[in-house]
Amino acid sequence: MRSMDALIAAAAEHLAATRNAVALTGAGISIESGIPAFRGPGGLWERFDPMEIAHIDVLRRNPAMVWKVLVKDLKAVMDHAVPNDGHKGLARLEALGILRTVITQNIDGLHQMAGNTDVIEFHGSFAWQRCMQCERRVETRTVDDTVLPPRCGCGGVLRPDAVFFGEMIPPLALWRSQETTAACEVMLVVGTSAVVQPAASMPLIAKENGAVVIEINPEPTPLTGAVSDLFIPGRAGETMNRILAALESDR
Ligand code: APR
Repeated sequence: MRSMDALIAAAAEHLAATRNAVALTGAGISIESGIPAFRGPGGLWERFDPMEIAHIDVLRRNPAMVWKVLVKDLKAVMDHAVPNDGHKGLARLEALGILRTVITQNIDGLHQMAGNTDVIEFHGSFAWQRCMQCERRVETRTVDDTVLPPRCGCGGVLRPDAVFFGEMIPPLALWRSQETTAACEVMLVVGTSAVVQPAASMPLIAKENGAVVIEINPEPTPLTGAVSDLFIPGRAGETMNRILAALESDR
């Protein structure tokens, strides 16, 4: 079993050697910003059945309930969330010319806020609400959610511009994710349980195309030992800080 220092040094070495790394992130990277994850202790899906409140058919049938149970609380948390050291570490890797793209399953916009300039929002974005009638988009922070569900000027119901269960991944996001993943030399997988497809296939595509896969997560996932070349058992913020410190001490 390699020591944490050895794992951090190996990850820093792989990252220092490339100018084409891609990151795949999940809810775990935003936990330290106060946004709950979905699975694991305190996860949203430990309290609610996603098929009951996060499926497109339920949203169409009862938007007021979905807003009341899920969306309003998410809005309250996301309105105040700021990037943590995990997000900042990925932004620093881009500034160093190492990381090209972040593929995120998160809808919180924290990677863009941290400074990454090429962020593929695989599951859409919570920053916008979209009218289910006329498709017009409005910024979430401008939406008055004291009356549920909030409505568009045309009278249609507003819904998060995020992918609900039962919906397609935005085609451009899927295509660009596959392209950048297949071309990268290192894939950094941070804070995902790697159980939701097709996002969870990205590390496999990277691996099949010769990339080194580095996974950062306090817990092992289906990728660990099967796809990941390096598994660093740690939290995103602290681990990214240690990797950046190792990287910058050698520059
Ligand atoms: N740092 C890094 N990872 C962490 C931390 C932390 N501080 N704390 C927890 N984790 C890990 C957990 O061990 C878990 O593997 O983050 C992961 C969170 O997993 P999920 O909650 O399943 O989040 P994610 O993988 O993004 O879920 C994928 O499922 O419900 C859908 O659309 C939703 O995008 C989401 C998708």
